[in-house]
Amino acid sequence: MAEPKKLFIKTYGCQMNVYDSERMAEALGASGYVTTSAMDDADMILLNTCHIREKAAEKVYSELGRLKPLKTANPDLKIGVAGCVAQAEGAEIMRRQPLVDLVVGPQTYHRLPAMEAAVRAGGQAIDTDFPEEDKFDHLPRGPRAKRAPTAFLTVQEGCDKFCAFCVVPYTRGAEVSRPVARVLAEAEDLVARGVREITLLGQNVNAYHGAGPGGTWGLARLIRELAKIDGLARIRFTTSHPNDMEDDLIAAHGDEPKLMPYLHLPVQSGSDRILKAMARKHTAAQYLRLIERLRAARPDLLLSGDFIVGFPGETDQDFEDTLALVRAVGYGQAYSFKYSARPGTPAAERAPVPDDVASDRLQRLQALLGMQQRAAQDAMVGRDVSVLFEKRGRLAGQLVGKSDYLHAVHVTTDRAEIGQIAQVRIVKSGPNSLAGEML
Ligand code: SAH
Ligand code: SF4
Ligand code: F3S
Repeated sequence: MAEPKKLFIKTYGCQMNVYDSERMAEALGASGYVTTSAMDDADMILLNTCHIREKAAEKVYSELGRLKPLKTANPDLKIGVAGCVAQAEGAEIMRRQPLVDLVVGPQTYHRLPAMEAAVRAGGQAIDTDFPEEDKFDHLPRGPRAKRAPTAFLTVQEGCDKFCAFCVVPYTRGAEVSRPVARVLAEAEDLVARGVREITLLGQNVNAYHGAGPGGTWGLARLIRELAKIDGLARIRFTTSHPNDMEDDLIAAHGDEPKLMPYLHLPVQSGSDRILKAMARKHTAAQYLRLIERLRAARPDLLLSGDFIVGFPGETDQDFEDTLALVRAVGYGQAYSFKYSARPGTPAAERAPVPDDVASDRLQRLQALLGMQQRAAQDAMVGRDVSVLFEKRGRLAGQLVGKSDYLHAVHVTTDRAEIGQIAQVRIVKSGPNSLAGEML
């Protein structure tokens, strides 16, 4: 038998890219590739890229520049760019960096084996279509890329919201939901391989509307059906838009025990003026009301959010409104970014906020969010939580896992193993994780 070729994939951006990278590894597995963690050992290097902010997109070109010596040393090495930069820039990538052999957008990964064959034959391959067929149904299945007690499962892709700052509707295309039966089959397969926790993914996951028995299913119904799978212990989902948070999904946080008490619900800004300019289509008050309803369903829900500061036109008062919203909500986790103008989006045409002003605001917001995050973590001390152990820690006998609230928890024990869910008493809160003892 021929020796397997080696594939190295570097993943940037969101969880959907993490999921896609695993599927690409499987697709190329069917073409005789095995994955390697050593870049200089690879026959093919794929960069699965992100276009969300300028820095993210530029990282790709600096990484490609660093690959030059590898390509010189091994002329048979093939280099591919996948993901959202591939979609946004297409053939331009090869003009800017001629060492690239292959460019594949997020919707055509199922064509990778044919593209790989074309570049092996000495050609170049570019595919940034938005095809009719569902890539997931047409992916050749090699051996599963990863064994772990947690897994991502993409149920929805693309976005129809067109927030004024965002490239996702352009790079990922229109909203598409995978049919219920496909999702259930994939989830059952994951659980049969030892997965205990599944995170359902979508750029707008709570807008899920998949074809199912009896008609179209929303996300809550899908979650309730998944919860019936024996052996699946935990369900999460990300990322959600406030306007798609339907009653049944709010209720599920209160009455579906397998749905974990952690919700990522980005708001971006606390100023109605800015929310309007961002085309978010909700106000700060509507968001706060939604949080209230979610907490009525599940009082201990830990909330996470995304924020953008320095959006064009943002005044000091607008920014103060964001701080006020953050104080009103109390986030357990958050991601905040300085606005980055993205070519082709409506906001890119507007006058920017001076960079030093935006930087200063980001610092103030992050200080507040950091305090809230720390307070939420410290408040766990003395509480009993469930922990799913995912890996070994650095110290002997130490296991590391995630609590229901997604906090990292270290436990030193010989009574548990990876993949097990245990009841743990939290005894200490450190800089980035909690320490606990087995109950
Ligand atoms: N679909 C998700 C988020 C996708 S992008 C949602 O709607 O919430 C993840 C985060 O990146 C966004 O929530 C936003 O906070 C940030 N982001 C997107 N475009 C950006 C831009 N042009 N500049 C800075 N941050 C941006
Ligand atoms: Fe981007 Fe807005 Fe769609 Fe989220 S909802 S992916 S921020 S356009
Ligand atoms: Fe980035 Fe594309 Fe995800 S732009 S955040 S990789 S959808």
